[in-house]
Amino acid sequence: MIILGIESSCDDTSVALLDCSSKGFFVLKEITASQIEIHKKYGGVVPEVAGRMHAEKIVPLIEEVLKNQPKPDSIVVSSGPGLITGLIVGVESARTLSYSLDIPLVSVNHLEGHIHSVEIGEGGLSAGRQEIKYPALALIASGGHTELVLMKKQGKYQVLGKTRDDAAGECFDKVAKLLDLPYPGGPQISKLGKNGNSKAIDLPRPMLVRRKSEWVCNESKGGLNRDNFDFSFSGLKTACLYYLQKNPLCNKTIPDCHPELDSGSFSQGNTKKDSDFRQNDSCVNKNDFCASFEQAVTDVLVKKTIKAALKHKPKTVILGGGVSANKKLRVTLEKEIQTNLENTKLLLPNPKYSMDNASMIAVAGYYKAKKKKFTKWNKIDANPNWEL
Ligand code: KG4
Ligand code: ZN
Repeated sequence: MIILGIESSCDDTSVALLDCSSKGFFVLKEITASQIEIHKKYGGVVPEVAGRMHAEKIVPLIEEVLKNQPKPDSIVVSSGPGLITGLIVGVESARTLSYSLDIPLVSVNHLEGHIHSVEIGEGGLSAGRQEIKYPALALIASGGHTELVLMKKQGKYQVLGKTRDDAAGECFDKVAKLLDLPYPGGPQISKLGKNGNSKAIDLPRPMLVRRKSEWVCNESKGGLNRDNFDFSFSGLKTACLYYLQKNPLCNKTIPDCHPELDSGSFSQGNTKKDSDFRQNDSCVNKNDFCASFEQAVTDVLVKKTIKAALKHKPKTVILGGGVSANKKLRVTLEKEIQTNLENTKLLLPNPKYSMDNASMIAVAGYYKAKKKKFTKWNKIDANPNWEL
């Protein structure tokens, strides 16, 4: 089945054509126009600007993707959740195409796309396809969402828990801003954290409790950190803000303290001088801060996922969403699943499909198209608050 996927829920305009079958998913063509360079100037996504950029790009992208390719059997569009200014562009384009070319239309939830992103094999080829076995548990961590979703079978979603405030990716972006790092902050923090000490700063792990020296899920029934699968990241962001207000990071490489680090990677705008730190082994730099922060987010995401997996015993655990590109999170989750869940397989997206893309939307839509779950062109609507 040839499927045209359209994604425009945030700051990527993406269009893809896939050949989908029970054997796997073959990406014939995918083109994504990223708006990161534009939004960087504002330190985050500006909805009006995003909408205008989507409107500018979408028709040329569709034209380019369909050039010299077979006619699609279905058109799949991500119609929520996300920014209404972007969703509307994708949905109106899909509606128009469906009507004018007489091709059935499928509406999918953006998060279903992130879940199915793991099924797109290496390099987008069907070879090496990873199949989801049910029941499956998905941790979706992106700029807008952090959710644990149980799927007893394909297409049946039960949200076990979600963030009560900021999403994990949003927390990465906001903490990066505190460190004068550009948007999006996740990849920047991850890059600096690679050379840092993750134990340098004792940051909180919201919704976990400390038992002796280890952070664990709280099994008790009362209190904020009680026994559930919810997340919360705004307190971690605030803890970072207070820490940085009290402890300006050193702004240069200090060979005496950190000979392994390159120069130029430290926080700008603090008042201490290189010489203030020269004899000080305990100075904290940006790399240590990033590594400690990344560890705190990873601990929360992994502990909650393992707890849910031990309870629901899924055959597959899926990690999806932009934050799934994070190496520390990938490696830690993999290790913990191997240690705690003998019969569970972890599926990770090819990093290329961690971020928003139209191929994952097409794959999610394939399952609906197969069951003929179409939406008529004059019935589809963008829904910025669509919950799974
Ligand atoms: O799924 P996505 O592309 O867009 C949304 O649906 O929100 O996710 C974008 C988010 C951003 O917050 C970005 O900082 C985060 O994913 N991200 C990362 C990494 N790469 C992207 N977070 C942590 N580590 C990364 N390597
Ligand atoms: Zn996303």
